[in-house]
Amino acid sequence: MRILILNGPNLNWLGKREPEIYGNQGLDDMMNDLRQQFPEVEIQTLQSNVEGELINFLQQAEEDNTINGVVFNAGAYTHTSIALADTLKAMDTPVILVHLSNVYAREVERHTDLLLANAKGCILGLGKESYSIAIQYFVGL
Ligand code: DQA
Repeated sequence: MRILILNGPNLNWLGKREPEIYGNQGLDDMMNDLRQQFPEVEIQTLQSNVEGELINFLQQAEEDNTINGVVFNAGAYTHTSIALADTLKAMDTPVILVHLSNVYAREVERHTDLLLANAKGCILGLGKESYSIAIQYFVGL
């Protein structure tokens, strides 16, 4: 089982950024915790602040037939990116969207999700557990 966890803009600043919303843990630490939680899964992690790079990473995951699923926190691009929505639409590899925070309990501009219609599903509001539950889903397939 190989899974890609892909994190989008500003998630490299976890720990520094709005800790009252996102917590104190840094991204690398969080990803390592997930690797420890799922020793049987080969977890690859990538992060970019650049929309086009995220598209390239998704396309590479799609073309790499050994990746069983993608766990994707697109950050604010969730709310804005038709380009990422187009990429997800063209993919056969299942993608589960995750958010650390409950975006529907936040500002109204975060209530729009341009990606969800083209994803397998979405888990949000549970902090690191959002990622963990998404991985559990893939493990159970
Ligand atoms: C986020 C929610 C987004 O609205 C925000 O722009 C982020 C993080 C989350 O994980 O809660 O960057 O995706």
